[in-house]
Amino acid sequence: MEPADRIAELRAQIAHHNRRYHELDDPEITDGEFDLLVRELQRLEAEHPEFSGPESPIVAVGGAPSAAFSPVVHSVRMASLDNAMDIEELRAWGERVIKGLGGQRPRFVGELKIDGVAISIRYENGRYVRAATRGDGAVGEDVTANVATILGIPAHLESADSASAVPAILEVRGEVYLPIATFEDLNSAAAQTGEHRFVNPRNAAAGSLRQKDHRVTATRRLQMWAYQVGEMQGGPIITSHHHSLEFLAALGFPVNPEVRILEDLDAVIGHCQHWQHHRHDLGYEIDGVVIKVDDLAQREMLGSTSRAPRWAIAFKFPPEERSTVLTDIQVSVGRTGRVTPFAVLEPVFVSGSTVAMATLHNEDQVRIKDVRPGDTVIVRKAGDVIPEVVGPVLALRPTDSAPWVFPALCPCPLGSSLVRLEGEADTRCVEPACPFQRDQRVIYWASRQAMDIDGLGERTITQLSAAGLISDAADLYGLTADQVEVLEGFARPSAEKLITAIDASRQRPLPRLLTALGIKHLGPAASSALAQQFGSLDRVMAASGEDLAAVEGVGPVIAGSIRAWCDLPSNQVFIEKLRAAGLDFGNPDVLGDGGESAASSQPQVLKGLTVVVSGSLPGYTREGAIEAITCRGGKSPGSVSAKTDALVVGDAPGASKVSKAEKLGVPILDAAAFEELLSSGEIPNR
Ligand code: IVH
Repeated sequence: MEPADRIAELRAQIAHHNRRYHELDDPEITDGEFDLLVRELQRLEAEHPEFSGPESPIVAVGGAPSAAFSPVVHSVRMASLDNAMDIEELRAWGERVIKGLGGQRPRFVGELKIDGVAISIRYENGRYVRAATRGDGAVGEDVTANVATILGIPAHLESADSASAVPAILEVRGEVYLPIATFEDLNSAAAQTGEHRFVNPRNAAAGSLRQKDHRVTATRRLQMWAYQVGEMQGGPIITSHHHSLEFLAALGFPVNPEVRILEDLDAVIGHCQHWQHHRHDLGYEIDGVVIKVDDLAQREMLGSTSRAPRWAIAFKFPPEERSTVLTDIQVSVGRTGRVTPFAVLEPVFVSGSTVAMATLHNEDQVRIKDVRPGDTVIVRKAGDVIPEVVGPVLALRPTDSAPWVFPALCPCPLGSSLVRLEGEADTRCVEPACPFQRDQRVIYWASRQAMDIDGLGERTITQLSAAGLISDAADLYGLTADQVEVLEGFARPSAEKLITAIDASRQRPLPRLLTALGIKHLGPAASSALAQQFGSLDRVMAASGEDLAAVEGVGPVIAGSIRAWCDLPSNQVFIEKLRAAGLDFGNPDVLGDGGESAASSQPQVLKGLTVVVSGSLPGYTREGAIEAITCRGGKSPGSVSAKTDALVVGDAPGASKVSKAEKLGVPILDAAAFEELLSSGEIPNR
């Protein structure tokens, strides 16, 4: 395509998406995709200056004000920000700033880039008179009544001391946002009443702010961070940005606590990298970091382009949301017979990896999200979290689309009827001979958290099963290298290696064996507790429901599930097959060592201590960290309670565990403190 045509196409697309975002609060593409379009246009316009001009959307900011709210002319333009997509662009901006200041090295202020809606609030003689959205930067929409309902925004300004005298005119700019927890509450309420769900907190904030009835806005629990002074007449003399933020805080505005003064470019870069890794530690969404020159006189020297100031830059994080086409919804069958729908997606690169599939959890979730084959959907992958389909872009739904219907039959060759019991969210295949369930049980058996059989993954297990060589995990122990080497992708050495790995798993400690059985609800933590209490598989199988439930970290649900499993004759046959295959069932005479064969050699320094683990710790799998605790005599249940002695947090810990520990005053340990605890049994800084 000729550059002129592409430029025209991009301009039309950008204008369209600008309107959907700013005026209709109903975007069709994600912010990241929008940025890509803008960047391509910027590049083409720079390469072909003959085509750039005032009609370019690059010059205009945002959308025109909507007709639904009366227009407000901003006394000081609400500019946008230029973006730096990586460290190189950030450094280039910093160097341009230094050059623009004739070689002076400025001080910077780093702020979080809150993913919400920009507003400007005007006070006259300390009285709240108006609030407006940004609109196109020059003219916004009047949202005075709605913003007045936001808690934390002062209705009157009073000077706390002489340094914070109230100006005759003060315009405060900031971002209205919805905390993630509030957004989730709002969406679960919407799911119950069948109302439209918001795709993300930003859209929810925008929708809540632009309600015709401010009483509705008042119910949405919006919040604001103030980050900039617009027009100001009178008041104290302020010479730096960080002073202006202190001034706003003294007047009672909420100013984000993560604002930092950064002495040089290296500090700026470090600050941006820090938040790129910690963006999910906050209770609200950020999409980058804003870096501003601190000295207001230096800002004057640098000035602005028609779009954005030269003295500030937004360092944008890689997008975590992308749109793609959901080509199909299929179901998979798990080891317990649970049938889970999942989205088949046109592969899309999001947050560092390509996503081609995403779970949809269960029938109700598909209905609540209202996703259908053929829909364009928003896919989100936040940090290390499993990708999810956020929802459909309704504006792009094909006209002939129909709601998806959960299949009535299991997709396996037996095709038995699926069952969804009243009051349950899950649909199940209840056919014990279902080959899909059988394969999944073996896959789980070999997995890292269970018997950890090196080189035995889903593909090989499916091959072995299809060749009729295995029908359960016990059959693995009868396999020979001769049988394996003829399978596709195998040769003699790889077949022998697999047999050796399978052999080695006979000696796995009891907690792993218990986990590997795949009993519903029985995970590694409860398996460790059971092993510690009973010492051998036979004693666990012989224990009454009551005795099982009495074990700390087990309880009646897991106990009931274990009993039901053990009582099934087919499972008893399976256990006997495992015994005949020579698996180590533990030693009923040696109790209290968690069943780990290395356990008896570990000093029991954690006896009597309960240590909960959250997040991933360097050098440990989750189960490994739990084993490290239990084999030293400690307990490691899955949740924090008043009985917890310490919470160990690794990367991406569960926010609820951390906040519960904080509330209960439970010491929180990092990876280094954990190592100290394991060797000494002392909880550091207690
Ligand atoms: S300063 C002239 N600071 O980002 C400076 N903006 O793409 C104007 N935003 O329209 C903005 N957090 O909606 C600034 N700490 C922050 C911000 C921030 C979020 C938003 C704001 C602005 C957009 C620019």
